[in-house]
Amino acid sequence: MDKIVSLCKRRGFVFPSSEIYGGLGSTYDYGHYGVLLKQNVKAEWWRAMLQERDDIVALDAAILMHPRTWEASGHLAGFTDPLIDCRTCKLRFRADHMEQSACGRKPSKHPGEIPDCDLTDPRDFNLMFQTTLGPVKDAGATVYLRPETAQGIFVNFKNYLQFSRKKPPFGIAQIGKSFRNEITPGNFVFRTREFEQMEMEYFVPPDEAPKWFEHWLEQRMNWYTELGLRPDHLRLRAHAPDELSHYSSATSDVEYLFPIGWSELEGVANRGNFDLTQHAEFSGQKLEYVDTASGERYVPHVIEPAAGADRAALAFLVDAYDEDEVGGEARTVLRLHPRLAPVKVAVLPLVKKDGQPEVAAELHRELRVRMSAEYDEGGAIGRRYRRQDEIGTPFGVTVDHQTLEDRTVTVRERDSLVQERVPIAELADELERRLRALWSSPKLAGV
Ligand code: GAP
Repeated sequence: MDKIVSLCKRRGFVFPSSEIYGGLGSTYDYGHYGVLLKQNVKAEWWRAMLQERDDIVALDAAILMHPRTWEASGHLAGFTDPLIDCRTCKLRFRADHMEQSACGRKPSKHPGEIPDCDLTDPRDFNLMFQTTLGPVKDAGATVYLRPETAQGIFVNFKNYLQFSRKKPPFGIAQIGKSFRNEITPGNFVFRTREFEQMEMEYFVPPDEAPKWFEHWLEQRMNWYTELGLRPDHLRLRAHAPDELSHYSSATSDVEYLFPIGWSELEGVANRGNFDLTQHAEFSGQKLEYVDTASGERYVPHVIEPAAGADRAALAFLVDAYDEDEVGGEARTVLRLHPRLAPVKVAVLPLVKKDGQPEVAAELHRELRVRMSAEYDEGGAIGRRYRRQDEIGTPFGVTVDHQTLEDRTVTVRERDSLVQERVPIAELADELERRLRALWSSPKLAGV
């Protein structure tokens, strides 16, 4: 993880937030390449949810919602972690994580293990951030930053039945920021207090819920493997009954083998009719599907694949990170799926003279309207390749003296390091063909 964190800072993927003020615990800013990577992760999610299916529609709901939402959803009463304070070292621990926590006085010991420790009884701590709507801070003005995007979908269910011409089974998908005042954030962007979720609520006839639960488990596993995560680093883990959220009758986590061990990447839950029933009760509105032909009416059940955009981006980075040797020199390379790579092609004149920069710059202008492309003419060619390898650029196009004679360039592949000459006239089509091709991690073959 340290290597990933350092590469992310060095190459402008992710920085600690407000760093000049010493940072703010577990908040991060995405730099240029991090923005492009996360953008690509989200675009692939939208592609899988919207473009490749016709039973899902999109939503972008507000972060601030009516406070009754959180009463109905159970978050106000139940979205809590049990907390223990130490009166001696003033540190705060999750009561269910004492075995993984370090004592403030003696970090080799767990809290409570030395006589100095003076621990409080566990108290429930609500993870929702509160803020005030309007200038007056009275009780009625308290609102919450949403802790999950899902509720924005449930409260819009009626709107979608009216306008979308969909009937169960159908889904509503949303990507957006969520906020949780996590007690123990950490492990880089794995667990932060402000993060982006990619959630889809799939509304189904009640008796079809188990079938669709299986369907979404399979779909979501395929999404990660098709985007290059190594299958042997990915698994499904069903929640034990005492682990289930208050709304769920079945949940399985997609887990990835992060450097911190197997950890949740995404949860797929069968939420039953809990949310629609609760919102119907608290709002007084009918939230049910009525089949106009048969007159049949029911409250749909919901299958929810809930992923984190930051956590997914981290998994793709971890899986892609590799070190090898090129020409006797150590190289760090991100073997990202080409569709996720922040930059698809780098255009490099071999030397900064003899008309090569002009041809390369012209080529770059042509390519960048079709794909994310960079032009770089500064420094030795080897160093320029190395920089592109570190940000995961799958193709390097080099303009050299031969280009000026026969209008061909060399295309260098990041993973195989194979270099081929391609006519400029065919270059954009050829690169697009390669970007669309099936791809699997060369790390699988032990390259
Ligand atoms: N609506 C269901 C829900 O929110 P969750 O398992 O709490 O379920 C779904 O969250 C996903 O959101 C997680 O699998 C993870 O990828 C991401 N996530 C949750 N909390 C996070 C945090 N503190 N930091 C980063 N990502 C988080």
